[in-house]
Amino acid sequence: IHETQGTGKKVLLANPRGYCAGVDRAVITVEKALELYGAPVYVRKQIVHNVHVVRTLEQRGAIFVEETEEVPEGAIVVFSAHGVAPVVHEEAKTRNLKTIDATCPLVTKVHMEARRFAKDDYDILLIGHEGHEEVIGTSGEAPEHIHLIDGPDDVANVQVRDPEKVVWLSQTTLSVDETMRTVDALRERFPGMIAPPSDDICYATQNRQLAVKRFAADCDLVLVVGSRNSSNSVRLVEVALESGAGASYLIDYPEDIDLAWLEGAETVGVTSGASVPDDLVRGVLDLLAVNGFDTVEFVTEAEERLTFSLPQELRRDLRAAG
Ligand code: F3S
Repeated sequence: IHETQGTGKKVLLANPRGYCAGVDRAVITVEKALELYGAPVYVRKQIVHNVHVVRTLEQRGAIFVEETEEVPEGAIVVFSAHGVAPVVHEEAKTRNLKTIDATCPLVTKVHMEARRFAKDDYDILLIGHEGHEEVIGTSGEAPEHIHLIDGPDDVANVQVRDPEKVVWLSQTTLSVDETMRTVDALRERFPGMIAPPSDDICYATQNRQLAVKRFAADCDLVLVVGSRNSSNSVRLVEVALESGAGASYLIDYPEDIDLAWLEGAETVGVTSGASVPDDLVRGVLDLLAVNGFDTVEFVTEAEERLTFSLPQELRRDLRAAG
């Protein structure tokens, strides 16, 4: 990345962007599992929600399946970063699968909160997107206690047993602002509702949104590199538009950029979701440079240093293998 005197057109590059600690760990888990056990290694669901990452791992011998029943008896299966319901662990046991759980520790934290509040017999209002794997996994911890709240429109209809014994939790990759609007609406209905003991929306989601908020109003266009099924990436487009960007698009690859978007633009913001490797962003910067956007300025919101150790079942086998 270079800074040069160019045409007056410039790129604002968000920092942080791209890989979070949970995605990094999940991708390395599959890579190490392939090295250690040899292909094929089965992975339940997309390990992280990114088309490019999934294709690359497939080429190395990972086989992605939707359900554990598709995995041959006794084979190795990795659970994705989004987490799984306890019933999935049980199914895997019944099929005698060797499991490696790459659930992000920050998702596991929400699972533990759900278990604890369910044990204390709370009604749990889980704010999240219906059908998202993380929400399915978290709900599976305590299906009889959890009510899914998919945005403010769901607030009016939710029924709880005791309005004084209600807690809200959330998916880790939501829009912070929209979630707070939902929480406000819930609190109006349930003034006694308590909050999660610490933020459920993870540091990576928050930092990427804050960085976009910083530059959105200065941008004619914000390009978010990420896949359609990546919740945190889709949220970045929404945050960019809400925060004043002239336009914003989600792209998987540099080739997805429609050059018409650049017509008349002076400043283009670039960021990427938490499941996006940075070489895709470099490809986007190269394409922009060819089109006259050859000055790149960093917009830094935070420095991230968090890393997570690999799943312990994998660490154990790696140690044993020397
Ligand atoms: Fe984990 Fe947040 Fe990444 S929950 S997988 S650190 S987006």
